[in-house]
Amino acid sequence: MILVTGGAGFIGANFVLDWIAAEGTPVVNLDKLTYAGNPGNLASLTHDARHIFVKGDISDRTLVAKLLVQHQPEAIVHFAAESHVDRSIHGPGEFVQTNVVGTFNLLEEVRTYWATLAEPAKSGFRFLHVSTDEVYGSLEPTDPAFSETTPYAPNSPYAASKAASDHLVRAYHHTYGLPVVTTNCSNNYGPRQFPEKLIPLVILNALNGKPLPIYGDGKNVRDWLYVGDHCTGIRAALHKGRPGETYNIGGNSEKTNLEVVHAICCILDTLHPAGAPHAKLITFVKDRPGHDRRYAIDATKMKTELGWQPQEQFETGMNKTVDWYLNNGAWVRRVISGEYRRWMDLNYTTLR
Ligand code: NAD
Ligand code: DAU
Repeated sequence: MILVTGGAGFIGANFVLDWIAAEGTPVVNLDKLTYAGNPGNLASLTHDARHIFVKGDISDRTLVAKLLVQHQPEAIVHFAAESHVDRSIHGPGEFVQTNVVGTFNLLEEVRTYWATLAEPAKSGFRFLHVSTDEVYGSLEPTDPAFSETTPYAPNSPYAASKAASDHLVRAYHHTYGLPVVTTNCSNNYGPRQFPEKLIPLVILNALNGKPLPIYGDGKNVRDWLYVGDHCTGIRAALHKGRPGETYNIGGNSEKTNLEVVHAICCILDTLHPAGAPHAKLITFVKDRPGHDRRYAIDATKMKTELGWQPQEQFETGMNKTVDWYLNNGAWVRRVISGEYRRWMDLNYTTLR
């Protein structure tokens, strides 16, 4: 039995599905169901007793304490967070509340529960904290990729809130001995990503003949990781990672945003020729404030210590992703709700 937080979101839901398929043991899934949480992501588990869904907030300490005592998990995998950089610019308060205060509340209840465990359960327990490469700040074009020893330099309210949570997790290991493992990964893409993030946004806008908004000059670089590879990386870190250590997980796929958008357009030109060439929809818009120029992950430690490396190439992962959105129209229609439309109006006023 493991307890996952944020398991109705993009990566969390992919992880829950991957865990049940690969490991087969039960998952308690605690999720507040914010705009980003979607129970439809887990529809295939509706009648599976191994998935126990609980709607709730990681800051609700009474609920968290009850779940821990009731289910006696051998690990926590902590995904729950506010995760969108642009939203953190419009309203940072919720990011501090969930990512910092929420992680603190969760850690406090986990510490209390962990103290009650007898050996060998106590030393076998793990708190796996899912973090981001954004805590390391921005790279120059010729800088080496982020390693686990790169100093923290977060630049957005989102990145700062994640950095704060990483520090709390680290402190709970050094001060209380809680067996924590932190993973810092690069940009994920794949099925079930909420369409406010670049890749699903571009796929859906292109299908609907709408502008494809590129911030600034489109030359910002991200290191794209297929979500399925991220899930296997987390499982490797959970099973083999050393308590107190951090592991960087990346996709070895540095691309400029323009390269990413052109790749999506090319795939759509083949799979959905109706609107070809889709690249004609590319529209340069005002840049994101404080937009980090380049992220890149050095995942050598994951490879040498844990034997993990990404299986997916950018081209194969992107084909699977576009294909998934083309074949899951019902999921897309449910997700594009009033909340999504409000966000598009707030963030892209210049496009209207
Ligand atoms: P997401 O926004 O798609 O999902 C977040 C989930 O957390 C949602 O289901 C939401 O309902 C839930 N949640 C939010 N606040 C909560 C609270 N207070 N209590 C309980 N549940 C709450 O995010 P994602 O893209 O799946 O990211 C998951 C984690 O991975 C986050 O911690 C994020 O910082 C990290 N991460 C994401 C990426 C990426 O590219 N998406 C890359 C690196 C790290
Ligand atoms: O690096 C890991 C991070 O990746 C995670 O920690 C975050 O949770 C996740 O949201 C993601 O952050 P980014 O800001 O990199 O992702 P996003 O999809 O929002 O943007 C990717 C790049 O595309 C970024 O350089 C901004 C740009 N962009 C984004 C949008 C939404 C555009 O040019 N136009 C857009 O409309």
